[in-house]
Amino acid sequence: MKSITSKLAMLAIFFSAGGPVSAGETIPIRNCTWCHGTSGQGFTTAPRLAGQRHQYIINELMDFSRHRRDNPLSKQYMWDAAANLNPRAARDFAMYFSSLPTRAANDGDQELAAAGKKIYELGIPESNIVSCLVCHGPNAEGVRQIPRLGGLSYFYLKKRLQQWGEGYHAAAEPMPRVARTLSANEIDALASYLSFVK
Ligand code: HEC
Ligand code: HEC
Repeated sequence: MKSITSKLAMLAIFFSAGGPVSAGETIPIRNCTWCHGTSGQGFTTAPRLAGQRHQYIINELMDFSRHRRDNPLSKQYMWDAAANLNPRAARDFAMYFSSLPTRAANDGDQELAAAGKKIYELGIPESNIVSCLVCHGPNAEGVRQIPRLGGLSYFYLKKRLQQWGEGYHAAAEPMPRVARTLSANEIDALASYLSFVK
């Protein structure tokens, strides 16, 4: 009896804390999709959000609102978009976009994909380049606060890796250190490979 009561109490807390998000009915997703594309599939410079890890989305929204993610396009677009999101709204957006099905971007250079896959899986020990798979997962699907990389576009991935090398978004450990070990050709190969992964 006691355990049933405590289970009911937990359920009550869950639902009063918001409960499950119903497919964007209660949140103004158009505030995001006019840039991030229909169903969050990405559009021009705004990356795909569909299928992204919800914990990662929440963290990035926090980084935008605190101005820790200071990349030029973040500053131009996302600082405003994230400025007035309370934690509840950030969580609801994150749950909604993470639940949408993702796709491959397919916009990289096919000929570089095999080289990129090799670096992704094994790293390059003699150049101190770590395996990306260890954190981002065998299918680049991410886990918890570590983002999905499959589905992101070649141009977005390339720019993100380059900009860590230029000092932007320095708080995003461990990526500034990881990105600084990569040459321009290695970045090209990795971004190409990942653009073909779903
Ligand atoms: C005016 C256009 C615009 C609007 C509106 C907008 N975004 Fe963005 N968003 C962008 C751009 C551009 C980037 C890429 C920033 C960069 O390259 O650093 C981005 C990046 C992001 C990222 C980081 C994704 C990643 O893979 O790191 C998240 C999360 C995000 N937006 C969520 C949202 C949410 C949620 C909303 C709605 C509340 C929203 N955005 C509204 C343009 C927009
Ligand atoms: C030790 C774990 C770890 C390793 C190894 C690692 N990453 Fe990451 N990566 C992260 C974390 C954590 C983040 C999120 C950082 C943040 O924004 O707070 C991230 C973010 C990223 C992003 C940003 C994605 C987006 O949506 O904007 C890219 C691109 C990326 N990593 C590529 C790589 C590549 C390529 C490699 C291999 C050369 C690699 N990572 C190795 C943990 C790791």
